[in-house]
Amino acid sequence: MSKTMPPAAARPVPATIASFVAMDMMREANALAAAGRSIIHLETGQPSTGAPLPVRQAATEAIAHETLGYTEALGLPRLRARIAKHYGEKHGLAIDPARVVATTGSSAGLMLAFLALTAPGGRIGMARPSYPCYRNIATALGMEPVEIACAAEDGFQPTVAALDSLNRPLDLLLVASPANPTGVVLPRHRLAEIAGWCRAAGVPLVADEIYHGLTYGAPATTALEVDGETIVLNGFSKYYAMTGWRLGWMIVPESKIRQVECLAQNLYIAPPSVSQHAAIAAFDATDELEANRTRYEGNRRLLLDGLARIGLTVPASPDGAFYIYARLPDGWPDSTEIAHRWLQETGVTVTPGIDFDTVEGGRYLRFGYAGATEDIAEAVARLERWRL
Ligand SMILES: Cc1ncc(COP(=O)(O)O)c(C=O)c1O
Repeated sequence: MSKTMPPAAARPVPATIASFVAMDMMREANALAAAGRSIIHLETGQPSTGAPLPVRQAATEAIAHETLGYTEALGLPRLRARIAKHYGEKHGLAIDPARVVATTGSSAGLMLAFLALTAPGGRIGMARPSYPCYRNIATALGMEPVEIACAAEDGFQPTVAALDSLNRPLDLLLVASPANPTGVVLPRHRLAEIAGWCRAAGVPLVADEIYHGLTYGAPATTALEVDGETIVLNGFSKYYAMTGWRLGWMIVPESKIRQVECLAQNLYIAPPSVSQHAAIAAFDATDELEANRTRYEGNRRLLLDGLARIGLTVPASPDGAFYIYARLPDGWPDSTEIAHRWLQETGVTVTPGIDFDTVEGGRYLRFGYAGATEDIAEAVARLERWRL
């Protein structure tokens, strides 16, 4: 060994990353299914139906006729232009296609945003509860997740008062609407207040809009409508039912395009080529996608009614995404125990709230309702028969 090599004990230690509990639950449930058990998956956030037909047809065409090599790191120009057009169609916004970045899922968008806006040690503000990978990606990158405790009566979303009361400055604030795990949609005025706070404090805002398109009341506002400098994350995994195609996008301010490009080139070269060719067709698959949304809306009602009968309460209205974040009755064991007992005793898989909120999550469970309606009905029936 070289004399200049530091002893192992003096070398930096990799960050310890918590697991993504929903994925652990899925693995456990899959093992039981492989052993012959009847399992109903309400733990993961993915549609049970595949990509819309025009997307699958476009993928077949691309496989037949395209080389499918690397695309530019920022994505296929035709896809970037189509995404920009979508902002005109949906939100009346003129977005320069140069500001659109195709990413390897919005997961890659999260990494790119964090790395483009801050550095190891940077403080990343996020709601508690929120999507666990926010906290875990920040930790993996040597950044500090700053969890903002959000009350049910505020829709589990940050308020300006909570942001004002932080005792050290943030380097970035991340908000999600509709949110995971709660399904809560931030009304435009609250999004505008948060963006206003960020502008005044000089804190860049990152808005995760991956659940846009999935609302059951008023459509969600894009943060770009209230502040054009926001970095917006979105993707094809949820409304477009393309989870495994690993394709997302970002809208970045002009000043960040080159930096994001350099990061993407080096981190993963380019997003999947076949997915990019196919995804262009997703924007015109409206009938199929809206039929999915209508099914989720029915599933949501079924599940809300069922959970009320079982004795769980839903303290913040889940008006978007495909999740219900429900509170356990007092006196029940914690949600990790309940989730494991339900899996073993009923075959219904859910995600314990501890994935989203390490402080209060022991009292909550997240239910995903993007499955088949018969499965949601059967899950409710099994849970109604179950006894503590
Ligand atoms: C809030 C939120 N953001 C981002 C993601 C990442 O999605 P993907 O990488 O499939 O685009 C998820 C996935 O469940 C999510 O719930």
